[in-house]
Amino acid sequence: MIEICFDQIDSTNTYLKNNYERLDDLTIVQAAYQSKGRGRKGRVWLAEKDQALMFSVLVKDPKLLKKYKGLSVISALSIIEVLKDHGITEAKLKWPNDVYADDKKICGILLEGISTDKLETVIIGIGLNVNQEAFAGDYLIEPVSMYSLTGRKFSITDLKYKVYEQLLYNLEQLKNGYDFFAEISSCDYLKGRRVTALFGNDSREVTVSGINEDYSLKVKDENGEYYLEAGEVSFHV
Ligand code: BTN
Repeated sequence: MIEICFDQIDSTNTYLKNNYERLDDLTIVQAAYQSKGRGRKGRVWLAEKDQALMFSVLVKDPKLLKKYKGLSVISALSIIEVLKDHGITEAKLKWPNDVYADDKKICGILLEGISTDKLETVIIGIGLNVNQEAFAGDYLIEPVSMYSLTGRKFSITDLKYKVYEQLLYNLEQLKNGYDFFAEISSCDYLKGRRVTALFGNDSREVTVSGINEDYSLKVKDENGEYYLEAGEVSFHV
């Protein structure tokens, strides 16, 4: 395992983006604090020092890159499995890459691909709320942390190794063609929900049928059924 740890950095994803060429497959970069932590859709991702698990994993193995569609869902599933071992048994996967517990966000995942003529690298950035007692900032729904759910504080280092181990195990399974459908279906947060799907500026009310075997999301409305790919759409539940 190749691990790089920073007390402070702009963003662990940015670090891997800038250094991926000289780093090995599955290198892990962690920071106790990020001054420019990034979320999806250009949002900032904020956490006070030592309160959250913030790390990124570099994926360069061509066999895994071929299965890139599964990477976000498998990463979220790995977090859910680790949360379960820490007493948070009802965590759910909000397709494609958020983890929810108690109907609130506990973990966000930022997947970034780097391509030249082909996909060279994917960076999996994980931000898991661990010991936060409160959340500063404007939220539609305030997030939760492992602490706010259980009343217990956890070792970030311990969690990092557990998540990394689980992620490596699942990535190996993904590479070998394992079908995660049963695991994924059992923690599919959006399944059966009526949600507002945003396709660019266009918003539509749809009912979610669930995550498919190819990691797309099946939804339906009065006009029929659609298969959505990650990145095409966002949801308001
Ligand atoms: C989201 O919820 O929009 C995704 C949040 C991802 C945050 C993590 S923290 C580690 C890694 N470095 C970043 O700058 N972002 C990801």
